[in-house]
Amino acid sequence: AETPQEPASLLGFQAIPIFTGDDVRIAAGYTATVFAPWGTPLFAGDPAWQNGRDDAAAQARQVGDNHDGMHFFPLTEGNSDEGLLVMNHEYVTTSGAATYTWLFGTQDTTITTLDQADKAINAHGVSVIHIARNAAGKWEIKLGSRYNRRITAATPMRLTGPAAGDALLQTSADPTGTLVLGTFNNCGNGWTPWGTYLACEENFNTYFGTTIAGDGRSAAQKRYGLSSGATAYGWELFHDRFDYKKEPNESNRFGWIVEIDPFDAESTPKKRTALGRIKHENAAYRIAADGTVVVYMGDDQADDYIYKFVSDGKYVAGDQRNNANLLDSGELYVAKFKSGAASGDFMGDGEWVLLDRNATPELAGFANQAEVLIHARLAGDAVGATKMDRPEWVAVHPDSGEVYVTLTNNSGRSVTDEANPRAQNRYGQIVRWRETGNDPKATTFEWDIFVLAGNPVKYTDRSDLKSGSANVTADNTFNSPDGLGFDPDGRLWIQTDGNYSNAGEYEGQGNNQMLCADPVSKEIRRFFVGPKECEVTGLSFTPDGRTMFINIQHPGEDGDSHWPDGGTSVPRSATIVITKDDGGVIGS
Ligand code: FEO
Ligand code: CA
Ligand code: CA
Ligand code: CA
Repeated sequence: AETPQEPASLLGFQAIPIFTGDDVRIAAGYTATVFAPWGTPLFAGDPAWQNGRDDAAAQARQVGDNHDGMHFFPLTEGNSDEGLLVMNHEYVTTSGAATYTWLFGTQDTTITTLDQADKAINAHGVSVIHIARNAAGKWEIKLGSRYNRRITAATPMRLTGPAAGDALLQTSADPTGTLVLGTFNNCGNGWTPWGTYLACEENFNTYFGTTIAGDGRSAAQKRYGLSSGATAYGWELFHDRFDYKKEPNESNRFGWIVEIDPFDAESTPKKRTALGRIKHENAAYRIAADGTVVVYMGDDQADDYIYKFVSDGKYVAGDQRNNANLLDSGELYVAKFKSGAASGDFMGDGEWVLLDRNATPELAGFANQAEVLIHARLAGDAVGATKMDRPEWVAVHPDSGEVYVTLTNNSGRSVTDEANPRAQNRYGQIVRWRETGNDPKATTFEWDIFVLAGNPVKYTDRSDLKSGSANVTADNTFNSPDGLGFDPDGRLWIQTDGNYSNAGEYEGQGNNQMLCADPVSKEIRRFFVGPKECEVTGLSFTPDGRTMFINIQHPGEDGDSHWPDGGTSVPRSATIVITKDDGGVIGS
C-alpha cells in the first residue's frame, strides 16, 4: 500500500552537532560573518577601536557592548540591500563590585574615575547603524550616514502616557516626572508596522544601590529586585541618581518599553508608560482586524507574568500622525493559564485579566492608574496572575497569529502547574496560545506546550519530564530557550542563553546555540552554535529572507574566550550576518 506523502518540511538544512570550542558553527551551505562588534566606530573620521582602552567619549560614538535584541528596517519598502540595523546593548559584563570583566581591555578592572563610569554608561543603550550591501554583495556600515546614532544610558528621553508626571516618577533633577536620562538593560526588542523600534528595559534594578548605611528599600523596590548596598556597576559612586536613598524615584523611571524612531537621529525616544513597568524582555505586536494594536510582553523573572497591551486608537497604514502615539493609550492585561478540560495533557485555556484601577476590584488599593502601571507586578500579584518559568521572548506567527513564548528555566520552582509542569525546571519550555476567535483583543485563549526542553542524553527514560517532550532528541537537545522569532515563511527560530558546561544535567548540549523549528510538525533542528561563554540572541531578516542577523552576546563572560579576533584578544560581542551560499532563503 502507498504511504501518504509527508507534507514538505519548512526545514531545508542538515542539523549540526553540538560544539564546545571558541568559534561559531553553522549548517552546511551557509556562511556566518562577524559584523559590527563592540567598539566599532559609527562616525566618519573617528579613530579605530583601541582594544578596550577607549575612553567614555569614544565609546559614545562606537557600537555598544553586549548586543541583544535587534531589528532590520529596510531603507525603503521591501529593500533587502540597504537599511537600518538597530540593536540593543543590554549590559556590560561585571565580575564584582564596580569591577568590569572586559570593558577596559584588561581583565577585571575596578573603576575609580568618573570617565570609567561614563564609559560603562555609554556602552549601554541602542545603536542605529545604516548598512548596505556593497558591489560584492557584502554588508557594510555606511560611516558617513545621517542615520547612524548612539543612544546611551545618558541620552535624554521622555516619559509619556498615563503615568507620565506622576509623583512616583518625579526626582530632584526632574520635578516634572517626564524627562529621564537614558535607557539601560535593553534586552529583547520589538518593532512596529509604522517603522519604530522598541527597546525593552529588563534588569534595571541591578543599576541602583546605595553608598549610605542601612537598607531603606520600599516593599515595591524589593518586589522589583533592587538590592541594598553596592551594585556591580558602581554608577552610584559617581552619579547620585543611581543611589536609591538619594533619589528613591529614579528607579521608577526604568523598566519601561522605549519607542525610538530610527529614521530621525534627532528624535527623542519615548518611554511608553501605558505598557506597564516590569522587567521587560521583548514586545511582539499584532494588529486586530479593526486596527487595534496588541503588544505581548513577558516579565523575565522566576514566577512572574505575561502581559498584553490593547490600544485605544487604531493603526492606519501610512498615517504617521495617527500612529505616532498609539502606544500611549490603552488597556493592560495579565495572563492566567488554566488546566482546561483535562489535566496532564500540557494544554488548557486561559484568561487575560484587566489591570484597571477603576474596573478591577482587586486593584482598589492602588492610588490611581499611574501606580498600577508603575507597579504592574504588584497589580499582577493582586489579581492572582499565573507565575511563569521566567517569560522571555514572545513571537507572533506571521500568518496564523498564534503566539509563542519562551519560558527559559526556573530552578527554584516548587509548586507546578500545567503550563509550568516541572519543579526545579532547569531546561525551560515554549508555550503557545491562540486567542479566542483568533481576535488578539480577546480576553480568553487556549494554549499548549510546543516543546518541553530537556535532556534525553542524561535522562534516557522518556517518561521522565526532564528528558523533554517527544520533539526533543539526543541530536537537538538544548536548555534555556530565550530569543525567539519567526522568519517571513513561518520558521520558528529559537536561541539559547543557558548553561554551557556540557556536563552533568547539561551533558550533550554544548555551547549556546540557535535552532529552527517547524511550528506544524514541531520538528526542531540545530542550525548554529556560538563561541565559548556566550549567549545567542537577537534576530531579524531582510524582507526577502535571504540575510539573517543574529547577535553573539558576552563571549568569555567568565574569562575564557578570545572570540572573534582570536589570539590573546579581548572577547567582543558582535552581530553575525548569515547568508546562504547559493543566495537562497535562510533555513530553506
Ligand atoms: Fe536579558 Fe531575559 O534576558
Ligand atoms: Ca490540560
Ligand atoms: Ca534574553
Ligand atoms: Ca539573557
